[in-house]
Amino acid sequence: MLEIKKYEFVKSVVSIKDCPKEYYPELAFIGRSNVGKSSLINLLCNNKHLAKVSEKPGKTQTINHFLINGNWYLVDLPGYGYAKVSKENRKNFQIIIEEYLQNRKTLKCIFVLLDIRHEMQHNDLLFLQWLGKNRLPFAIILTKADKLKKSELENELTKHFEEQPNIFITSSINKQGREDVLEFIEYLLEQ
Ligand code: GTP
Ligand code: MG
Repeated sequence: MLEIKKYEFVKSVVSIKDCPKEYYPELAFIGRSNVGKSSLINLLCNNKHLAKVSEKPGKTQTINHFLINGNWYLVDLPGYGYAKVSKENRKNFQIIIEEYLQNRKTLKCIFVLLDIRHEMQHNDLLFLQWLGKNRLPFAIILTKADKLKKSELENELTKHFEEQPNIFITSSINKQGREDVLEFIEYLLEQ
């Protein structure tokens, strides 16, 4: 099993040109604000204080690289669809994120996080379709599983794809799904 033995925060940037040079493979986490992207990175690294978490949506506002075991990156991204940031600001984020996702050659997989309690929102569906259109590799993570016994969302999701994407179910509270995601990352890193 892949173990995270070492992690270090590398940098926060607002433009792809300022990202670390494309050298090590990387895995990025995206999804609506407050869905638990930063918490998931902390879960994987077993450190609650590594990526900044907040009850208030809109916490992560930059592209954040964390170097893991000295040879791959986890990347924390801002959330999409956060109503309280200005329209212009939101547009700006969107451009930065799209630029990063479309151009980053070392990006192995985009983990799209969805809150297991909610139905899929319009912007989630638009985003997933955008990934498909751009032929970008992605997997889905249903977060906050501790808040719910059984998910409707998993069933609903399967209707939207011709080919089933990988779907993981996680909780940063009870650590559910941590090993499954790490195992999948290990597989991706071997490709
Ligand atoms: P932005 O950076 O604002 O886009 O949010 P984010 O997606 O990074 O979410 P973040 O990790 O900051 O978590 C948002 C809130 O959800 C915090 O209050 C977390 O404690 C809570 N949270 C995250 N994951 C879980 C989970 O698995 N279970 C429960 N119960 N709460 C969670
Ligand atoms: Mg965050």
